[in-house]
Amino acid sequence: MLEVDDIHVYRGRTYVLKGISLRVTRGEIVALIGANGAGKTTTLRTISGLLHPRRGHIRYRPEADGPELELDRLPAEEIVRRGISHCPEGRGIFASLTVRENLLVGAYLRRDNRGIEDDYRRVCDLFPILGQRAGQAAGSLSGGEQEMLAVGRALMSRPRLLILDEPSLGLGPLVVETLFATLADINRRGVTILLVEQNAVMALELAHRAYVLETGRVTLSGSGEELAADPEVRRAYLGGA
Ligand SMILES: Nc1ncnc2c1ncn2[C@@H]1O[C@H](COP(=O)(O)OP(=O)(O)OP(=O)(O)O)[C@@H](O)[C@H]1O
Ligand SMILES: [Mg+2]
Repeated sequence: MLEVDDIHVYRGRTYVLKGISLRVTRGEIVALIGANGAGKTTTLRTISGLLHPRRGHIRYRPEADGPELELDRLPAEEIVRRGISHCPEGRGIFASLTVRENLLVGAYLRRDNRGIEDDYRRVCDLFPILGQRAGQAAGSLSGGEQEMLAVGRALMSRPRLLILDEPSLGLGPLVVETLFATLADINRRGVTILLVEQNAVMALELAHRAYVLETGRVTLSGSGEELAADPEVRRAYLGGA
C-alpha cells in the first residue's frame, strides 16, 4: 500500500533522513520506534507531504487494484484527499473550538454531509467521551481525552491509512491500554495504521511489523514479536533484560 524508497530529507541545513526505506502492506499495523531525534516525526511528515525528500520516492496505492501515486510530488491536502490522515505529535487540538467542531475540521475536504454525520456517530461510538463532551471546549479535555479527539479527528477524513505520531505521549498506562485497544479495533475495521511510538513495549505488542530508526537510518526491522525478542532492541528500548 505504501512504499518509502530511500528518502533523504533535510530540515533547514540539517541532513536528517539518510536513506530511509520501509513498506506498509494493506491491513497492517506498522510501528516505527527509535530514540529522540532519530527522525521518526520527519519520516511521517514526509509521507504526509509536509516535508519533501531531496532524494528518493514515496509510492502509495490507495486501492488494491488501482493506480499507484507518487506522493513526493503531491501537496499535503491532495494526500489527505487520497486517504492518508495524519494525527500529529502534540495533537494539534483547537482548544477554543468545541469537541464536535474539532471533529468536523477533520472532514474539511469532504462534501458528503450524510457520510460526515455517519462518521461522526461512528467516532462517538469508538470514543463515547467525545459524544458526551461534544459541546464543550476541547481545551477543557484531559490529555487522554484530547488524544482520543485527535485520533477521532483524523478518522473524520475516512482514511485508508492512519498515521499516528506518539499517541501515548503523556498518558497514564490505563488510558494507553484503552487507546491501543481502540487502535486495534480501528485496524480490524479496515484502516491500515503506521504509528510512531516511544512506548516500544506497547507498540511492538500492537504492531504486526516494526522498524527501528537510529539517526536517520533504519537499523532493524521484523515482526513485532521478533523485535520484542531481539537482545539489542531489549537493551536499547525495552529497559534491558
Ligand atoms: N526544523 C528543524 N530544523 C533543523 N533540525 C530539525 C528541525 N526539526 C527537526 N530537526 C532535527 O531532525 C532530527 C530528527 O527530528 P525528528 O523530530 O524527526 O525526531 P523524532 O525521532 O521524531 O524524535 P522525538 O522522539 O523526540 O519526537 C533531530 O535531530 C532534530 O533536531
Ligand atoms: Mg517525534
